[in-house]
Amino acid sequence: MRQSLNINRRSTWLRRTLSDITQKFACEEEVARITIVGTGYVGLTTGASFAEMGHDVRCIDIDSEKIRGLNHGRLPIFERGLGDMIDHNQTLGRLIFTTDFDLGLKDADFIFIAVGTPQLADSSSVDMRFVFKAARDIAEHACAPAIVVNKSTSPIGTVREICNLLTSHRPELGPWRVVSNPEFLREGSAIDDCMRPARIVLGCDDHHAAAAVGSLYETLHSPVIITDTNSAEMIKYASNAFLATKISFINEVARICHALDADVATVAEGMGLDPRIGREFLQAGLGYGGSCFPKDVAALTDMADRSGLHPQLLTAVTQINEDQRHWVAEILETALGGISARSIAVWGIAFKPCTDDTRKSAAIALADHLHTCGAAVTMFDPVVVEPPAFAEAASTKLDAVAGADALIVATEWEEFVTTEWAEVRRRMRGDLVFDTRNCLDPLLVQAAGLRYIGVGRKGAFSPAEDPVAV
Ligand SMILES: NC(=O)c1ccc[n+]([C@@H]2O[C@H](COP(=O)([O-])OP(=O)(O)OC[C@H]3O[C@@H](n4cnc5c(N)ncnc54)[C@H](O)[C@@H]3O)[C@@H](O)[C@H]2O)c1
Repeated sequence: MRQSLNINRRSTWLRRTLSDITQKFACEEEVARITIVGTGYVGLTTGASFAEMGHDVRCIDIDSEKIRGLNHGRLPIFERGLGDMIDHNQTLGRLIFTTDFDLGLKDADFIFIAVGTPQLADSSSVDMRFVFKAARDIAEHACAPAIVVNKSTSPIGTVREICNLLTSHRPELGPWRVVSNPEFLREGSAIDDCMRPARIVLGCDDHHAAAAVGSLYETLHSPVIITDTNSAEMIKYASNAFLATKISFINEVARICHALDADVATVAEGMGLDPRIGREFLQAGLGYGGSCFPKDVAALTDMADRSGLHPQLLTAVTQINEDQRHWVAEILETALGGISARSIAVWGIAFKPCTDDTRKSAAIALADHLHTCGAAVTMFDPVVVEPPAFAEAASTKLDAVAGADALIVATEWEEFVTTEWAEVRRRMRGDLVFDTRNCLDPLLVQAAGLRYIGVGRKGAFSPAEDPVAV
C-alpha cells in the first residue's frame, strides 16, 4: 500500500514543472521523498528532522557498521533528543537507514549530500574526495531526475562542479539541478538548530529549484535567503570564520588582561551588553576546536590565498588559536613550578560540552602537550569513554583528580560547574585548579582551599554579576 502510494506520488511529481513543485511541498499534506547521502552528525540529524517534519527519508552511508547499529537502535553519536526522534520516525516507517544506493536513491525527489569535507593532511585545502565520490555514486545509482542539494561545507564553486559531474555521467537525467544549502547546526543543540534554524540559505542558478528545496522547510517559518551558488557557499565560510574571529579576539584580549591585571570575564560582559557587539562567542578560554572552525577558517584562508589575496585577519585568527593552548600551558608551568613528572587531571575530552565529538579537540591538544612535557595525564569526560592513548582513563570526575597535582577544566560541562570542591580538595595531592574555559565560580573553588586560575581572570574576582540598573 505504502509502495503504490509512493509510486503514484512519484509519477505525479514527474508531470509537474519545477515551479509547481514549490507549491506542492509548501502544502502540508504533501510528503517529499528525501535521500541523505552521508549519515554523520549532519546527515543523521538532518534526516531525523526531515522525517519529524513528516517527509519520507532514507539515509545512506558507506559505513556498514554504523548503518547496522542504527537499524538495531544504536546511535553512532551522542546528541540529546536524537535517539527518541529516530526511534519515533523509524517506527512510523518514514526513516530508513541503508548502505544500498539503489534502494536509498529510488524515487528520490531530493538527494542531500552530507559527507565530510575535512582539511587535507598536508595543506589548508579541503579534501573533496568524499563529496565527489558521493556525487559519482548518485550519478551511478539515480534512476530518475531529482534535485541534488549539497549540505557539506564546500569551497566556492563546488555546486557547479557537482552539476558538471552529474551531467557528464548521466546526461539523460539532465538538466541536473544542484542547490547549495549549507548547514549551521551546532553539535550539542543539533536537533533544536535543525527544527528552529536561525536562517536557511539556498544557492542555485535555478530559482525554482532553490524554492522547491526551501518549501521543504516551510513549516519551520525561518528566514530564507535565496542567492547564487557562490554566495551561498561563501555565507557558510564567512559565518564560521566570523565566529572563530570573535573567539580569537577575546582570547587575545584575555592575554592582555592577564598582563595588565584586568578581568576578561567582566570585560566581555561589559562589551557584550552593547547590541552591536553581543555576548555570544566572547568567552575567553582554550581556543576553538571541533570538526568545523579550524578547517573552515583554513579553507577560507586557502581560497583567499589562491585568489592572490593576503588574508591577514584569517591568518591571525588561526595563529592566535594555536598559540592559546601554549600560553595556557606556560601559565600552568609557572603555577606548578614545572610540568615534568607532575600528575595532571583533565576534565573534558570532546571539543565542547554536550557532544562526543573529539575532532580537533583543544582539550586533547593541551593534554597531549602536557604529556609530551613529561606529565602523567588522567582524563575524564561525561560522554567520551575512550581517552587518547597517551592518557589514563578515569570513570568519574572525582576518580580523575585522585592524587593529582593540578586539575584542568577543559570543557564547560554543567557537571563540572556544579562540582563539590571540598571533595576535590580532599582527593588531590596538589591544590591547583586551572579553569581553561572560565566556567567556574572562582570564589567557590577558593573557598575549598584550592588555588584558582582562569584565562585572563583577575584572581579574586567572582564571575560578573547581573548588571545593576541605575
Ligand atoms: N558536525 C557539525 O557540527 C557540522 C555543522 C555544520 C556543517 N557541517 C559540515 O557538514 C558536513 C558533514 O559533517 P559531519 O560532521 O556530519 O561529518 P561526519 O564525518 O560525521 O559524517 C560523514 C558521513 O559520510 C559518510 N560518507 C562518506 N562518503 C560517503 C559516500 N560516498 N556515500 C555515503 N556516505 C558517505 C561517512 O561514512 C560518515 O558517516 C561537513 O562538510 C561539515 O563541515 C558539520
